[in-house]
Amino acid sequence: MDAEPVPVNLRELRPDDWPTVREIYEEGIRGGDATFETEAPSWERWDAAHPELRLVAERHGSVVGWAALSPASARHCYRGVGEVSVYVAEAARGDGLGRSLLAGLVQRSEQAGYWTLTAGVFPENEASIRLHKACGFREVGVRERVGEAGGVWRDVVLLERRSTLVGT
Ligand SMILES: CC(C)(COP(=O)(O)OP(=O)(O)OC[C@H]1O[C@@H](n2cnc3c(N)ncnc32)[C@H](O)[C@@H]1OP(=O)(O)O)[C@@H](O)C(=O)NCCC(=O)NCCS
Repeated sequence: MDAEPVPVNLRELRPDDWPTVREIYEEGIRGGDATFETEAPSWERWDAAHPELRLVAERHGSVVGWAALSPASARHCYRGVGEVSVYVAEAARGDGLGRSLLAGLVQRSEQAGYWTLTAGVFPENEASIRLHKACGFREVGVRERVGEAGGVWRDVVLLERRSTLVGT
């Protein structure tokens, strides 16, 4: 018989979560298929880039994942467009936490008036592509060799979720 799933608590990210959030971020960076970034930024830079809608997932009282939105553009016409990031600690992956975090972020983004969420994902990151599609994102297309890191040019799959509740 399968064990009971461990309950997950989603809550707003607090500044004192940053050391754990950064650790989870750096674990994702080290995996090589999460982002072009090579190290986590300072709290000040991260905080400024993600001014609202930042969530953490807690299990047994410990932070094991996070998701956040960054505004896509300063232009007024795009004020309801945000780019999502979602990271789960390696030891906690595959348990539905990514799904809870992204679904929670989508719901809160609609409450906050966002109508389009975007994500750029490496084609090799199958878990992330499946996760986004499970949360209502569609594949817009593949940006070919759009970025370079460590001498390697990489494609990025552009995924997008258009709300049917906001901006109709
Ligand atoms: C991507 C990530 C956030 C997914 O979180 P998770 O908690 O492991 O995912 P979940 O358990 O909620 O599963 C979500 C979906 O991905 C699928 N999935 C999970 N792990 C997978 C794997 N290793 N390979 C293929 N699919 C996988 C699940 O089956 C599920 O799809 P389904 O609903 O169609 O069955 C997590 O793997 C992670 O943090 N990776 C490193 C950081 C990263 O790549 N972030 C995304 C940057 S774009």
